[in-house]
Amino acid sequence: MTNEPRLIDPFARAITYLRVSVTDRCDFRCVYCMAEHMEFLPKAQLLTLEELDRLCSAFIGLGVQKLRITGGEPLVRKGIMTFFRAMSRHLDSGALKELTLTTNGSQLQRFAAELADCGVKRINISLDTLDAAKFKAITRWGRFEQVMAGIDAAVAAGLRVKINTVALKGVNDDEVHDLVRWCGERGHDLTFIEVMPMGDLGNENRLDQYYSLHDLRRELETQWTLTDSPERTGGPARYVRVKETGGRIGFITPLTHNFCEGCNRVRVTCTGQLYMCLGQEDDADLRAPLRASPTDDAPLVATIRAAIARKPKGHDFDYSRQTVSGQMPRHMSHTGG
Ligand code: GTP
Ligand code: 5AD
Ligand code: SF4
Repeated sequence: MTNEPRLIDPFARAITYLRVSVTDRCDFRCVYCMAEHMEFLPKAQLLTLEELDRLCSAFIGLGVQKLRITGGEPLVRKGIMTFFRAMSRHLDSGALKELTLTTNGSQLQRFAAELADCGVKRINISLDTLDAAKFKAITRWGRFEQVMAGIDAAVAAGLRVKINTVALKGVNDDEVHDLVRWCGERGHDLTFIEVMPMGDLGNENRLDQYYSLHDLRRELETQWTLTDSPERTGGPARYVRVKETGGRIGFITPLTHNFCEGCNRVRVTCTGQLYMCLGQEDDADLRAPLRASPTDDAPLVATIRAAIARKPKGHDFDYSRQTVSGQMPRHMSHTGG
């Protein structure tokens, strides 16, 4: 085994960003993320909060500097604030540079102030539309007003907010200018995301929904002056500045521009499976070594290292030639995006 303390994959990429899904449950049922009737995992299969702590702390010991908590909806996991509080010790020690989450916003009225108190500085909130009826159609169970109040609560708590919008043709393509204006006025970053072929697509056709961000950017440029920016947030987004608002727009383009070359991240599911790539099947079970040796992290660390040594080059998502390829049967909620 190597003495290199950090995690370096076969393509010389340093793994410094861990995304941890703390629950597969969610209070919404977004059409591109979940089926309406999902079967959720029994509780015994989930990592406990203590196990999540050990696991994240082990990764931080191996050089992870950015920790993003995801789900399902992370804030519906019982006791999750205890976990955020525990992770804040790694911010205090300086080992962790950023502790954050991606949320649907529904629980922020309850938790925003406490998140800020745990050292969270900026959060990403999923919001695909500013139209309440459309919001209902996309999220099935979501309540628009509750999310708006959640965003306000985040701002009031001093958190910087980035809005994540999945670009969906025929759904929100008529709202892109409104979203830019709204985020600009409120001082939120805005990131557009190309829809990825995840989950059992059933009757849904990703090709019909797919709106390339190349086209979306051209549309934006009919009304806004965009300038490429070298700013990075540690994720796959590439940013532009908007002259008219002073705001920032990110583009996440798994389809039109593959960003895997610069990948710095891996994901852990709420059952402790480590996925080395969002768009590939291979995983490693971290729950077994966690549970087999409750006080010794060496087997866990060895399993992590062995897994990183097989991190693939990238995903195979592709919609060209008018067919979907590289599709993943797992739902997005399984790996937290
Ligand atoms: P920042 O810290 O703001 O840069 O966040 P982020 O973009 O890393 O995280 P977020 O949870 O907001 O993710 C936004 C979208 O990017 C989600 O749809 C993710 O699935 C997608 N995404 C993040 N990392 C990857 C990746 O490695 N591959 C692919 N294909 N998509 C990714
Ligand atoms: N393609 C692209 N983005 C998706 N998200 C969920 N499902 C998909 C998909 N199939 C987004 C959510 C959230 C982020 C974590 O992932 O909207 O902002
Ligand atoms: Fe829930 Fe987020 Fe998936 Fe929507 S995208 S169902 S909010 S986990």
